Amino acid sequence: MRQMALVGFLQAQNCTQLASSWRHPESRNDSMSKGYYQRIAQVLEEGKFDLGFFDDRLAMPDMYGGDHAHTVQHGIRCVKMDPLTVLTVMGMATERLGLGATCSTTYFNPFDLARRFQTLDLMTDGRAAWNVVTSFNDGEAMNMGHDRHVAHDLRYDMADEFLEIVLGHWDAWEDGAIVQDKTTGLFAHPEKVHRLDYKGKFFKSRGPFTVPRSAQGHPVVIQAGASGRGTRFAARWAELVFTAYHDLESGKKSYAALKEAIAQKGRDPSKVKLTNLVWTVAAETKSEAEDKWALADSLVNETDALSLLAEVMNYDLSKKGLDDPFTDAELAELSGGQGHIDVVVRVTGRKNPTVRDFMEVTRRGHARDPFIGGPKEIADRMEQWFVEGACDGFVISATHVPGTYEEFVKFVVPELQRRGLFRKEYTGSTLREHLGLDRPENGAWRRYAG
Ligand SMILES: Cc1cc2nc3c(=O)[nH]c(=O)nc-3n(C[C@H](O)[C@H](O)[C@H](O)COP(=O)(O)O)c2cc1C
Repeated sequence: MRQMALVGFLQAQNCTQLASSWRHPESRNDSMSKGYYQRIAQVLEEGKFDLGFFDDRLAMPDMYGGDHAHTVQHGIRCVKMDPLTVLTVMGMATERLGLGATCSTTYFNPFDLARRFQTLDLMTDGRAAWNVVTSFNDGEAMNMGHDRHVAHDLRYDMADEFLEIVLGHWDAWEDGAIVQDKTTGLFAHPEKVHRLDYKGKFFKSRGPFTVPRSAQGHPVVIQAGASGRGTRFAARWAELVFTAYHDLESGKKSYAALKEAIAQKGRDPSKVKLTNLVWTVAAETKSEAEDKWALADSLVNETDALSLLAEVMNYDLSKKGLDDPFTDAELAELSGGQGHIDVVVRVTGRKNPTVRDFMEVTRRGHARDPFIGGPKEIADRMEQWFVEGACDGFVISATHVPGTYEEFVKFVVPELQRRGLFRKEYTGSTLREHLGLDRPENGAWRRYAG
């Protein structure tokens, strides 16, 4: 029986994806300590999750009003630690849980990134994953030594080259290259370690790469592109896709379209898992869960919403009234996530949406359309999305941590297991085994180029 994948959507910061979460009475206030992350990892592993993954941003959300004072004052994701370091700490406290981190192809160097992730994969016995992003805004550009963020489609062209280098390096050492024979003095077969010699339009890297393959070959590649260009990129490269479908019906269509795009590339669509973003508020009974939700929702501050929206749109929304439509010229100028603009235009049916339209459709800063209830209500909704063909699993966001995950593992996971929709035990040890993905042969990705 087909079973769903479960991913914990984590942040190495002072709050969850919900900026107001740090004000939640049950939130721990030691988010800059190892115990906090190790506890979250252990809860996810107890619930047999496939993966916990960190999102990332290379700047505070200071686009709104062009200043960081409100961000720091309200604690709007103003702390952002290095996710790879925190993952290592989590890996030391777990045995099976997959460990993913987000890293930008626009602002990092491919050789360096390939080496850090491949090292993490070795140090965690094949549990690492990389969420490939191209970044959102000028703040990130400026922190990383540039004046402005790179234009949307151009960043994906750069990302294609970046991936060719990373995957190329990850393949440098053939399986079986290392002999380590003390009697003959042969450490490794030189003919089984290859130099990449890559020269592209945007990047170059020579090699040979310095980190051999791991138990799962190399880290799992995750991607979450939502625009036309972004989904083409995901169809080429992703092994796990994060989606944020707006509703079940449009989700089914987008799911089918992406699987088709993957097949068009000559890849096996069943070997690329699509997991949809969802918020869950679980309790023993529906009415208890509703009370919990009322509390979490009451903590949201409108500044959180505007600031987080400005951040992903790469636009200072304080310059506009809430009901002013974006002009064509302004829309063309937005260089943040094109996927956000596309969904707002589609859902509102307006070619020139207002700031309020963006707030209402995206619900940035809020938990959008959460699954609230006891075990039955939440499992019913998850089952519907999964069985009706809108996803292969879920990326679960938290109104507070570790509470959201503790409650989900206590109330929902046993119900999903009872229905046969989710594993009772891990059957493998690597992340690829959890996700049902094959260990990649050297160079397999080259077949799907272009
Ligand atoms: C679950 C999920 C997690 C994401 N995490 C990040 C992240 O950590 N950093 C980031 O810059 N973008 C993140 N994104 C945004 C995507 O990478 C992508 O930019 C966005 O969906 C817009 O698509 P587009 O780039 O094709 O316009 C995430 C998206 C989803 C659905």
